Amino acid sequence: MKSKIEILKSQALAALKAAKSDAEVRDLEVKYLGRNGLFNDIMKSLKDLSDEEKRTVGKLANETKTELEAAVQKKYAELEMYAFDVIADKEWMDVTVPGKKPDVGHRHLISKFIDDLEVVFGRMGFAVAEGPDIETEHYNFDQLNMPADHPSRDMQDTFWVKNLKRMVLRTHTSPVQIRHMESHKPPVRVISLGKTFRKDSDATHSPMFHQIEGLMVDTDISIANLKAVLTHLLQQVFEDPSIKTRFRTSYFPFVEPGMEVDCTCPICHGEGKLADNVPCKLCKQCGWLEIGGAGMVHPKVLENVGYDSKKYTGFAFGFGVDRMVMIRHRVNHLRLLFENDLRFIDQF
Ligand code: DAH
Repeated sequence: MKSKIEILKSQALAALKAAKSDAEVRDLEVKYLGRNGLFNDIMKSLKDLSDEEKRTVGKLANETKTELEAAVQKKYAELEMYAFDVIADKEWMDVTVPGKKPDVGHRHLISKFIDDLEVVFGRMGFAVAEGPDIETEHYNFDQLNMPADHPSRDMQDTFWVKNLKRMVLRTHTSPVQIRHMESHKPPVRVISLGKTFRKDSDATHSPMFHQIEGLMVDTDISIANLKAVLTHLLQQVFEDPSIKTRFRTSYFPFVEPGMEVDCTCPICHGEGKLADNVPCKLCKQCGWLEIGGAGMVHPKVLENVGYDSKKYTGFAFGFGVDRMVMIRHRVNHLRLLFENDLRFIDQF
């Protein structure tokens, strides 16, 4: 009997040693130490022994069982340590490697440009005014000397708002001039920046775009003031003090005279070509870039907001912000500004 116990013990220990998983150990535990296990068989057969043998063999059996139970627990602990070692081996990290900088976002280049414009005009004493994106026909057109059925309205491919009578997505930032003058007495020095909307979509037009509007009204405002302010603006935003401006006669119902504003190309400096006679692509070799419209505020517009047009004069201008951003950053497709592709945006 004693040797049977010894054999069982060495078998159990060998099997335990070879076990590779908790499940295997559990099976062995059941096989040897379980209620119907091999050890209990031995315990049960003790009853057939003499009293003397019962004592010695029983003692040995009990000791061996305790020993095996301890060996099982030890094996469980070993397996756990082993599992930990495997994970540690796989998932180790080098704490001396320099950290990765978290990806912090940044302002979009249009928003950044708008901030810059506000700073440039802020230094010239201009305040910033805001108006709604959904505008009434009254402010978007009528007050700007563009009555219903006036052909000038055709210039602006308007989105009329369904089910909202006589409301539009503002086609320009000019209505903010009116709103501002209605609530402020002259002198006025104000700009307004924001989204504008037109039914236009191609390589150089997007149905949503941004404009900057400027307005200055006082007792002695002339085209000379307009020229000075716009030249300074363009020199600042294109970071080139050699930039010149020129005005070409044009028509906008809310100004008289009205004009188109051009500036010398900041790439070829008005030459139309680069060093080595390479043609300038930005201005298409013309040396000038069209920037936007401007003019002297029409007396009718001043009267519409209750200003005395005999006493006050003013200038106004409206430029496309997106185009200026494209010129400044040498971006050749308008869409890039609006697609929010990080491969593009992260370059700035
Ligand atoms: N509102 C005009 C447009 O979007 C641009 C413009 C032209 C604004 C002349 C002005 C101006 O203030 O004087 O087509």
